[in-house]
Amino acid sequence: MKLSFTLFSGLMLCLLEVKSQTVIPIETKQNAIVLQADTKTSVKMVYYGPKLAAQGDYANILSSYKQGSDYTGLNDDAYTTSGTRNLFEPAITVTHADGNNSLDLHYVTHSVKKESDNVSITSIVLKDPVYNLETTLYYKVYYNENVVEQWSEIKNNEKGNVTLHKFASANLYLRGGSFYLTQYHGDWAKEMQPEETKITHGIKTLDSKLGTRANLFQPSVFMVSMDKPATENEGTVLYGTLAYSGNFRTDLELDHLDNLRIISGINNYASEYSLKPNEVFTTPAFLTTLSTTGKGTASRNLQAWARNYRLLDGKGTRLTLLNNWEATYFDFDENKLFGLIKDTKKLGVDMFLLDDGWFANKYPRNGDVAGLGDWDENKKKLPNGISSLVKEAKNNDVKFGIWIEPEMVNPKSELYEKHPDWVVKEAKREEFYFRNQLVLDLTNPKVQDFVFGVVDDLFTKNPELAYIKWDCNAVIYNAHSATLKNQSHFYIEYVRGLYKVLERIRKKYPTVPMMLCSGGGGRVDYGALQYFTEFWPSDNTDPLERIFMQWEYSYFYPAISSSNHVTDWGKQPIKFRTDVAMMGKMGFDIVVGHLSPNDLAFCQDAIKTYNQVKPVIWQGDQYRLSNPRENSVASMLYLTEDKKTGIVFNYLVSNRYAEGSKLPIRFNGLDAAKKYKISEINVYPGAKSSIDNSKIYTGDFLMKIGFNPDVNQSRTSVVLKIEAQ
Ligand code: GLA
Repeated sequence: MKLSFTLFSGLMLCLLEVKSQTVIPIETKQNAIVLQADTKTSVKMVYYGPKLAAQGDYANILSSYKQGSDYTGLNDDAYTTSGTRNLFEPAITVTHADGNNSLDLHYVTHSVKKESDNVSITSIVLKDPVYNLETTLYYKVYYNENVVEQWSEIKNNEKGNVTLHKFASANLYLRGGSFYLTQYHGDWAKEMQPEETKITHGIKTLDSKLGTRANLFQPSVFMVSMDKPATENEGTVLYGTLAYSGNFRTDLELDHLDNLRIISGINNYASEYSLKPNEVFTTPAFLTTLSTTGKGTASRNLQAWARNYRLLDGKGTRLTLLNNWEATYFDFDENKLFGLIKDTKKLGVDMFLLDDGWFANKYPRNGDVAGLGDWDENKKKLPNGISSLVKEAKNNDVKFGIWIEPEMVNPKSELYEKHPDWVVKEAKREEFYFRNQLVLDLTNPKVQDFVFGVVDDLFTKNPELAYIKWDCNAVIYNAHSATLKNQSHFYIEYVRGLYKVLERIRKKYPTVPMMLCSGGGGRVDYGALQYFTEFWPSDNTDPLERIFMQWEYSYFYPAISSSNHVTDWGKQPIKFRTDVAMMGKMGFDIVVGHLSPNDLAFCQDAIKTYNQVKPVIWQGDQYRLSNPRENSVASMLYLTEDKKTGIVFNYLVSNRYAEGSKLPIRFNGLDAAKKYKISEINVYPGAKSSIDNSKIYTGDFLMKIGFNPDVNQSRTSVVLKIEAQ
């Protein structure tokens, strides 16, 4: 009798508890993040996966898992605290004003704000029942793109300073099965090298401690496949990245229940943050998108999101260009540049881009050892200043753009002599250089004014300046500011300072295109890309290398943002190099005068063709058809939303005997019912295409059987245009 009463009351309690639970589904078109809360405890992350037909079913998810005990009641927290019962990696760690280290964040309330038909923000307020510390978790949903942005705000309502030891943007908890991580590493000229591994128990950390150009060794982009490694068109895969240009840290912890906790945010390394009373610490956003139909869908979602919402002028146009970096390096004068401006016109691109070496007088910028920081035109090279180049460009009916690296300084410079306290360094220690330079201290408002001034002066003096290539070559050594009160805020304040400058620039010059360059791709992230129209993926422009690199970038960034230049790197013919550069925003960095008549004619024609097809490449959906890491032929399709026009790039990526496109390459994304005509474009002068362009294929055929681009040793690069009839 007693036993059954206990059982009954237990059941009642359980029912009551279920009823008092608030289920918070955060849905996109395809997916749902489901949180569960009650006022007595923390908010739980129940689910991140394909959304369920009936919202009521979300309440039944948790009870379907019988994985054992977590011993804490906190393991699936949506924002894991530390100092009470938690035994796992926390999202937040604090020391309160009274010196106490414990934190418990209980659910208080939540609300949903609709920003548009497509965008809404769910915010969830959490509070410590003992201490006056409040945290709000934000989930911004881009419904159609299936992208979720997560960030948090930590507010100190206590009477004294609270120290934040860890302050993540987001905390996900994925249940069960097995998980596979695709991460990236790199170095100069070797950006975006992928590695895939099964996630084992314990913690895997992806991070950066470089301060600036933080992605040099490791970018924050990653993928997690669930149950089995996802392929292009199959499998469940989550993409994640922190939209931040400084030190980041992402922990992936597989716990004893086989569940995966992903915690991402600013790296707390050397960055304890002292939060004043009433101060709010806002973290950068952590972005995710989830696909149950492989990596391709996830990439198209993220690319669409970037074009629609993040990348500056993502739906706009871009300028093709001729850059002088590899043509001249530091060795030029006005006359030589006038010649290159004429070549720009001859080639048929929109703009001439003047690279490094145009500035500094006391310590002229004739190499990378001097002059950075002194942004006056070098009088010997440019006696008539930049304005005469802008004028010459105008006379030749092309635009003019310029390279700057305003965050940096050479010790051999007037700027360093005048303002040694503007430089990031440990005054009592020996200086240590990266590319012979040091980083300016952007935590200092005076330095922010200076950096803004570099850009503002250029535009004030040359209102017709059409483009900026913004470089950033050095990492931060000896992270120390001469003026910052709290040195452990340095890394965070550096990025805040950078964003403040970029905000100011964008307020005054909202649309001028700017390339995000960082000694190659050292700073490609969605924090920076809200201010930039494009990025420089790598100084490595060998087209063979670029096929692999651009392939990996394309999972996360749209083609319109990828600046690809035709240069003299690599052994491939000009056609191959040009075709590869066309797969994004095309530019040239060659000596036009050295081109053979046929090579020149090919480039001129290719630019005309590019001008016709660039909307397909820039705004189309990208389908990776044949992976260069798995096949001898790489193949990539760009397809308009209406599925009527596509451009397919095909390359031979193996030198082995008789390698080529032995099998037809299956297309993807086409309309099965439509009929398509296929023709070869970018054909080299005098060459005859082996593609029969009179044939008509159904989309069904092209997706089930495929099409053979006839890639072989004598046709190493083949570009096709598909048009619906
Ligand atoms: C960096 C850039 C290059 C070029 C040089 C100039 O390395 O990535 O494209 O602009 O600086 O010094």
